[in-house]
Amino acid sequence: MNKQKILIIGGGGREHAIGWKIAQSKREPVLYFAPGNAGTAEIGTNLDIKATDIIKLLEFVKNEKITLTLAIPDDPLALGIVDEFRKDGLRIFGPTKAAAQLESSKAFSKRFMKRHNLPTARFEVFSDINLAKEYLEKESLPIVIKASGLAFGKGVIIAETKEEAVNVLENILVKKIFGSAGNEVVIEEFLVGPEISTHAFSDGKNYKLFPTSEDHKKIGENDTGPNTGGMGTIAPLPRQMKGQAFVTKELLKRIEHEIIAPTLNAMREDGIPFEGILYPGLILTKNGPKILEYNARFGDPETQTYMRLLETNLLDIINACIDKKLEELPIKWKEVSACTIVLASNGYPGVYEKGKIIDGIEEAEKESDIVVFKGGVRKDEQGNLVTNGGRVLGVSATGNNLKEALAKAYEAVSKISFEGMQYRRDIGKKILLLN
Ligand code: AMP
Ligand code: GLY
Repeated sequence: MNKQKILIIGGGGREHAIGWKIAQSKREPVLYFAPGNAGTAEIGTNLDIKATDIIKLLEFVKNEKITLTLAIPDDPLALGIVDEFRKDGLRIFGPTKAAAQLESSKAFSKRFMKRHNLPTARFEVFSDINLAKEYLEKESLPIVIKASGLAFGKGVIIAETKEEAVNVLENILVKKIFGSAGNEVVIEEFLVGPEISTHAFSDGKNYKLFPTSEDHKKIGENDTGPNTGGMGTIAPLPRQMKGQAFVTKELLKRIEHEIIAPTLNAMREDGIPFEGILYPGLILTKNGPKILEYNARFGDPETQTYMRLLETNLLDIINACIDKKLEELPIKWKEVSACTIVLASNGYPGVYEKGKIIDGIEEAEKESDIVVFKGGVRKDEQGNLVTNGGRVLGVSATGNNLKEALAKAYEAVSKISFEGMQYRRDIGKKILLLN
């Protein structure tokens, strides 16, 4: 039998983790990455093609007779890579352009949630400053103001006073500090409660849940400083926190029956079935779980943690999604805990330098149950591993419980160094301390 040839689009720690998992398949698939990184180069062939260059990707897939493509990052999905591949009869995993709007357009996703009565923060959309100010008067504080379009992760402001809120509205709607991304603003109720990540595989009709996880979005300890892509994750989340119920079986049922299933049903009703990874970010309010936002893809670093927990062959799951047979496939997760600590460049999420030599990955991986996933890493001309991005490495560990996994991960982190390396020392701490 010919070996499967698989193209994985993307080049972060998440794509290294997905490739790492797939490379363990007994069928020994041949892996390609576009563009990949120094980690993916260890398990496959990196292509000099950008994740968003759909024309070149199509050309490569046809010439090389690639059997399956995995579209991982948000931007090729938002550009409609899945639609383009399917037009040519090619096998690809991910949501269509229309379905990916759940992530690519806040206005689309908020209106979708309202239309289908899905639990989310109360909101209104405005383009007129006076109407927006009038609405503010009736709302309580703090209040969340979001530029509707993409604003490089800076478009969400939590205003503590009315004056601050008016100021923000004027900056966005009148002074246009986010340009046309701020032609409309969403004014949204502030939700109070812990924030968690949920993921589900979907074949458009049926779905299978991942364990829940917690990301750490801020750069600084105790959730301070600017937002990042994510600085560390733990999974699965415990049933109890501080002696109180946390992610209980009942809560998991509510998430499934009030959020995941109705979202997928509503997408089908609207004629845009969602096939791929549905990743809603949730806030657990005292009135139940509410949707903060949808992502239409695997999270990063969540996926680095998830791949350490997944027991079932990932290719089998992905093929079952494409073939609409997910219902028939049992998915197993290991009965252990896992975590990932992200090591980032000095200055991230702002400007940072590249090309710093990285030491100690081998030592770190000698520790038990450690895998170091590479993100912004490349090999220089002398063969040294050097930094090449904001989030450089994901140090992942498994353990019998969260405490053990975190202790192992931090021990491994202590073996690694590069100039300006920064990381959060408090990943999982809130949950650990409170237990
Ligand atoms: P977003 O870009 O929509 O993911 O928002 C960035 C961050 O702002 C989220 O991860 C939350 O921590 C916070 N946030 C956004 N919307 C709300 C809300 N309605 N209530 C409370 N926090 C929010
Ligand atoms: N970890 C956050 C994200 O992938 O969006």
